[in-house]
Amino acid sequence: MRSVVYTKRGGMDAIDFLESSTPTPAPEEVLIEVHRAGINFADLMMRQGLYSPVPPFPFTPGYEISGVVKKLGQGVEGTGLIVGDRVVSLCGMGGYSEQIITPAERCFKLPESISFDAAAALPVTYLTAHHMLTYLGNFQQGDSILVHHAAGGVGTATAQLAKALGASKVFGTASANKAEFVRSLGMRFIDREIEDFVEVCKRETNGSGVHHALDPVGGKHMMRSYKALRSGGRLYAFGGSAAVKGSKRSILSALRMVLTTPKFNPFKMMNSNKAVFGVHMGTWKDEAVLKNQVTSLVGMLEDGCISPVVDKVFRFEEVAAAQQYLHDRKNRGKVLLDFSPRN
Ligand SMILES: NC(=O)c1ccc[n+]([C@@H]2O[C@H](COP(=O)([O-])OP(=O)(O)OC[C@H]3O[C@@H](n4cnc5c(N)ncnc54)[C@H](OP(=O)(O)O)[C@@H]3O)[C@@H](O)[C@H]2O)c1
Repeated sequence: MRSVVYTKRGGMDAIDFLESSTPTPAPEEVLIEVHRAGINFADLMMRQGLYSPVPPFPFTPGYEISGVVKKLGQGVEGTGLIVGDRVVSLCGMGGYSEQIITPAERCFKLPESISFDAAAALPVTYLTAHHMLTYLGNFQQGDSILVHHAAGGVGTATAQLAKALGASKVFGTASANKAEFVRSLGMRFIDREIEDFVEVCKRETNGSGVHHALDPVGGKHMMRSYKALRSGGRLYAFGGSAAVKGSKRSILSALRMVLTTPKFNPFKMMNSNKAVFGVHMGTWKDEAVLKNQVTSLVGMLEDGCISPVVDKVFRFEEVAAAQQYLHDRKNRGKVLLDFSPRN
């Protein structure tokens, strides 16, 4: 089987391919033939050595896949999974591969109506947005939301979940050429370069601000997201995209992002009745919570309440071009890698 590997931290020259023999599942694990692997912004940051935790180099990235169960490890029989099942898996790492071993509890059966594309686009983005709004954020019907990278993976997932949950308004910042796309998802588009999103959010909520602000940017941007909140509002700090400048690693941008990220003062937070959550689904430990959320998302997908926006599917040999597409800010929705077997 072939896998994508990051051989070192760096630009696209850090990407290589590895040929290895098919692994055997240990007890409670399954072997999956991968059809699609989702690309996440975190994969780009991992390649640049700007993300943690990650395994030591060389390693195969890839948090999420969809595919077909090929072999069951001991103890999996009787749990509901059988060979031949179509599944989606939040595999944790190693998804950029033709085959993968994953814990059986991280595999979720797919209804026939759900394509491998839609399934692979689901776990990370929808789970992250769902977790922030409903599990951490106590989302209530009529709440308002501010989301950045609104046209991207998490952004499009947030827009759809917001609609399904009954949000009153979603403000979405993105690059100017994505305005129509962002509006088509029902969001109030804000040009990330020329508009002041704090001012827009306040003005269009009668001066109050939003209930939920989802910030994956970091640096000074994070304090601005906090300022866009109303009393009782919640900020979710869930990324540091400001650390990334193009496809090559930039230590300067990373340092600037870290040094300018605010240190929140609990007394000031107390007086303004605001909360800040740190969110990293990759290090989330409570499997039962996660399982409930993925199961409910697969249900929403089956019912048509959500429908992942897949922008482009690249064959896995074109992984560098696929990641460059994200670096170039071209994606509108999710980008996937195709690992399906070719005869
Ligand atoms: N903590 C967690 O558990 C978790 C889980 C999922 C995602 N995240 C974070 O959420 C963010 C979105 O992730 P995603 O996978 O859905 O990616 P994405 O939003 O699809 O990423 C690509 C988009 O990000 C925007 N962007 C902002 N800064 C950028 C930069 N320096 N270089 C290139 N593009 C940049 C661009 O859109 P515009 O130009 O339109 O802004 C681009 O099209 C990322 O920061 C990611 O790390 C965190």
